[in-house]
Amino acid sequence: MAKILDDLSRTFSEYLLIPRLTKRENVPRNVSLAAPVARYKKGETSRLFVNIPVVSASMQAVSGTDMGVALARQGGAAFVFCSQSIEAQATMIAKIKSHKAGFVRSDSNVKPSASLQELLDIMKRTGHSTVPVTEDGSSGGKFMGIITDKDFWEFEDDLTSQVQGYMTPKEKVIHGLVGITLKEANHQLYKHKKEALPILEADGRLNSLVFKKDYVDHINNPLELLDGRKRLVAAAGVNTHDYQERVPALVAAGVDMVSFDSSDGFSEYQRDAALWARERYGKDIIIGGGNVVSAEGFKYLVEEAKLDFVKVGIGGGSICITREQKGIGRGQASALMEVVEARDKYYKDTGEYIPICSDGGLANDTQIIVALAMGADFVMMGRYFAMTDESPTPKVSLKGRIYKPYWGEGSNRARNWQRYQDDKGATKMHFEEGIDGYVPVVGSVDEVLAVTLEKLRATMCNLGSNSLPEFTKNALLTLVSEQSIEEGGTSNIIQVDSKFDDDN
Ligand code: IMP
Repeated sequence: MAKILDDLSRTFSEYLLIPRLTKRENVPRNVSLAAPVARYKKGETSRLFVNIPVVSASMQAVSGTDMGVALARQGGAAFVFCSQSIEAQATMIAKIKSHKAGFVRSDSNVKPSASLQELLDIMKRTGHSTVPVTEDGSSGGKFMGIITDKDFWEFEDDLTSQVQGYMTPKEKVIHGLVGITLKEANHQLYKHKKEALPILEADGRLNSLVFKKDYVDHINNPLELLDGRKRLVAAAGVNTHDYQERVPALVAAGVDMVSFDSSDGFSEYQRDAALWARERYGKDIIIGGGNVVSAEGFKYLVEEAKLDFVKVGIGGGSICITREQKGIGRGQASALMEVVEARDKYYKDTGEYIPICSDGGLANDTQIIVALAMGADFVMMGRYFAMTDESPTPKVSLKGRIYKPYWGEGSNRARNWQRYQDDKGATKMHFEEGIDGYVPVVGSVDEVLAVTLEKLRATMCNLGSNSLPEFTKNALLTLVSEQSIEEGGTSNIIQVDSKFDDDN
């Protein structure tokens, strides 16, 4: 006879946290939100920490280049979607990696003989206002000078004139030589009050550029997630079908983390793919995967597939209809707690710590907080980020409000058949596992995260915690009755402004 678990499948909204002693040092500015993403042994440290415990889902409507840049700059990471060609995904990763964090290879360049109109076209296409002039117009050509949008007037100057008549020639350009440190380059920018500093090779060829705005940006984003070469950390979803081509292409593009993207990752397919990548790249990249909802699934992916981190969650996603369609899944809180318990036991038994990611179904900030309190090291979200300016979809106006489309990777629209087609060996599916809809636009990634993280830090202080591990250790949770949920809302009050009807 089938076995039935004693526990009910529970969700985050059924729990509340009980405050613990807040000590004087428990103030938001002392709180660290750093979270490990790679497995590590007792006494060692994780190969990579995210500076905020938040990553975005590997979905077409969520994680592209802009999300990768925006989220890494806030201290998290976006898992660029894999339901696209290998080349397109690798290009997105390369763009994230080349997003300025110091010395940037110039991707807009002109020849001295180019016309102002050609220059203008480049400026409009790339959005760059400073363009190096090189002998052959390439990014590594002999440096001849620099031209900015302040050196000519689009509607006054003759646009057929050549760039060389308007540029600042090399002799007058403040520049640095290869070998200069970023600190020294920034100092030169400051000293000469310049916006950009060209860095030249000893033989006069252009090597790179250093921008003042990147320096300012860095100061404004102290949690920015950077690799050892001061480039933004980039992450990507991968699948169990074309990994032998996809993973090498992503690695060549500079990816730091990959994560197997599957609605049910408790499979030999995922084990084989993860072991293949591990054998080939060792510890050079972080390899995550999932999803699982049981201790059994977790143990398999940790022991057999040797994953760095494991994602938990089936059927909880806001666009997900896996539970209705296939009858598999589990309440996200129950799944997470069982896996966390298995993880803690694994750590006790083997001395190896495996970070856990709670993936999907987080409907509001309090659920993010509860997931982290329950022991998730970090959370993955789709809808939350689909609603931001940086998701890759266009804004649309519906009945006077601005929305963005949001659809599941298992919907017909995504046609991500690799993920849903045959992870368990089936040949073809004729049903969807996700829906296609709209979500309201809420602002930029930095704006929405600022509010969520402020709430998280405040709650951590309520529980006397200055770090996430401390938060989980101190967490005392209570199940709530329907009546107490009602009690938690406002009562007998007519709200002044009830136009905000989404639950963020
Ligand atoms: P959300 O944050 O609640 O919107 O959930 C996002 C998560 O849902 C993703 O990270 C995936 O794990 C999962 N997901 C994405 N697309 C689908 C789908 O089409 N069906 C089921 N789950 C999906």
